[in-house]
Amino acid sequence: MNNKYALSVGLAIALATCTNSIHAAYSLDTELRSLIKQNGLSGDPSKGRTIPTISSPKAQLGMRLFFNKALGGNKDTACVTCHHPLLGGGDDLALSIGVGAVNPDLLGPGRLQVLGHPNVPRNAPTTFNMSLWDVSVFWDGRIESLTKQTGMNGSIGGIRTPSTPLGIADLQAGTNLVAAQAKFPVTSHDEMRGDLAANRENPYVWTHLAGRLGGFGEGIGELPQPEYWLSLFRKVYGTPTSSPEQVITTQNIFDAIGEYERSQTFTHNPWQTYIQGNNQALSESAKRGAVLFYKPYQQGGGNCVACHKGDKLTDEKFYNLAMPQLGKGGRGGADNTHDYGRGNETQLYTDRFTFRTPSLLNVEGTKPYSHAGAYYTLEAVIQHHLDPSWAVANYQLNRVKNENPGIQTENAQKNTFEALNKLREDQQKGITPLRPARLSKTAIEDLANFLRSLTDPCIKSAACLAPWMPPSNEDPNGLQLEAQFKF
Ligand code: HEC
Ligand code: HEC
Repeated sequence: MNNKYALSVGLAIALATCTNSIHAAYSLDTELRSLIKQNGLSGDPSKGRTIPTISSPKAQLGMRLFFNKALGGNKDTACVTCHHPLLGGGDDLALSIGVGAVNPDLLGPGRLQVLGHPNVPRNAPTTFNMSLWDVSVFWDGRIESLTKQTGMNGSIGGIRTPSTPLGIADLQAGTNLVAAQAKFPVTSHDEMRGDLAANRENPYVWTHLAGRLGGFGEGIGELPQPEYWLSLFRKVYGTPTSSPEQVITTQNIFDAIGEYERSQTFTHNPWQTYIQGNNQALSESAKRGAVLFYKPYQQGGGNCVACHKGDKLTDEKFYNLAMPQLGKGGRGGADNTHDYGRGNETQLYTDRFTFRTPSLLNVEGTKPYSHAGAYYTLEAVIQHHLDPSWAVANYQLNRVKNENPGIQTENAQKNTFEALNKLREDQQKGITPLRPARLSKTAIEDLANFLRSLTDPCIKSAACLAPWMPPSNEDPNGLQLEAQFKF
């Protein structure tokens, strides 16, 4: 064979392969664009919402409060302890560790509790994109909008909180779901409250903390320089002569923290760019993953959109997936080692073991996954969805035990199997769309790559996140948490 001939055969083959892959890419894009249309996606979950910028004075005050251990009863925890921007707005732990850490300022892997095990029973979800929730917050939705209006973040029509029975508005809930939520971590002995006023009701704790910040009432003298906070609160909520009692109120503290969280809106990602018309924004694998995500089981898909709906990738409803139950539980069961999730709030058997569908925006940055942080990789948590029975039977405790020394696993197997049996009932009764599905290893990788296209690049960049972190050592009381990390 002469060289010229070999060259032209080679060229012809190359050309044919090339045309084929252009054809494949073309039909993949066509299929995906049709699924995008069917699902009415715009790519912009923040459309039509009022979202504060981080430079707004309220968000600036809220950021300083969020990072300050003055709100921890024992002055050893702040919100940021479990929700650090550099940890994807979470804590990188399966189960959180609040008060009584060996080194209170060490966040993420390596954080240990003096008693030897995590004292919080659930995984800390991210505080990013809190501005997008309209129905409820927390894994069990115990902070809940009574009107659930789209785009309102719970700001109208009343909010139920743990202060009121299910369905009844808490008149002190605050401006929206996010402000309403912020009041509760400081009342939890395990998360932030510690030994503060052990036998008193929540309002006492809130008033005490306000007094601590402002140097009045029960909190008088607890901080050396309360004028630091007074000047910040006056700028946002009063005048240069307002008294501490006028501006440093429970409502204002948590309103400001809520505004800071609402400013953490990170929704610009490659999937958005793709939806808005750029076919180059996703890899081929991510595109195949997207198709699987939106296709029903009957067509060989993963049916993910049955629950992870819309531009937010959540329907804000509750389902039992029988994700491995780790930790101390404390929310249900005869021995109270269970976590009944939503069922613990409604006391309904049908809701038992159900948890709120997470948004999948930025999910790449918020491991470990599920309400008890049982899975460390996207592939593993996806695999669980596709075959919960197999996943539960083959669940290895080693990884979670290595990364979370002392995590309570004594009841893990028994409790998870109970949830699994209930899932089978849920399937028989038709109260869940979840069905077992056989997808190849490549298909699971494709799905994971699609999920990675939901990452806003800002959340991976310390420089981009800098505006959401207060300048160091600004607080004259030395209680601003300067995080240490082991990585
Ligand atoms: C010790 C760790 C810890 C601390 C400190 C902490 N949180 Fe959390 N946070 C969690 C855990 C765990 C959950 C999930 C609890 C649940 O769903 O029952 C959570 C849930 C949340 C949620 C709900 C997110 C969602 O998607 O529903 C928000 C918002 C939040 N925390 C904000 C705050 C704020 C504001 C503070 C400070 C006032 C704070 N957290 C302090 C661990 C912590
Ligand atoms: C029946 C509703 C439903 C379907 C269908 C569903 N999910 Fe989920 N998903 C959930 C719920 C509920 C959770 C949280 C469960 C828990 O923690 O107990 C979850 C958790 C997740 C998580 C972990 C998120 C986190 O922050 O912890 C990922 C990732 C995920 N789902 C991806 C998918 C993918 C991919 C598919 C399709 C293969 C899918 N889901 C199908 C309801 C669903």
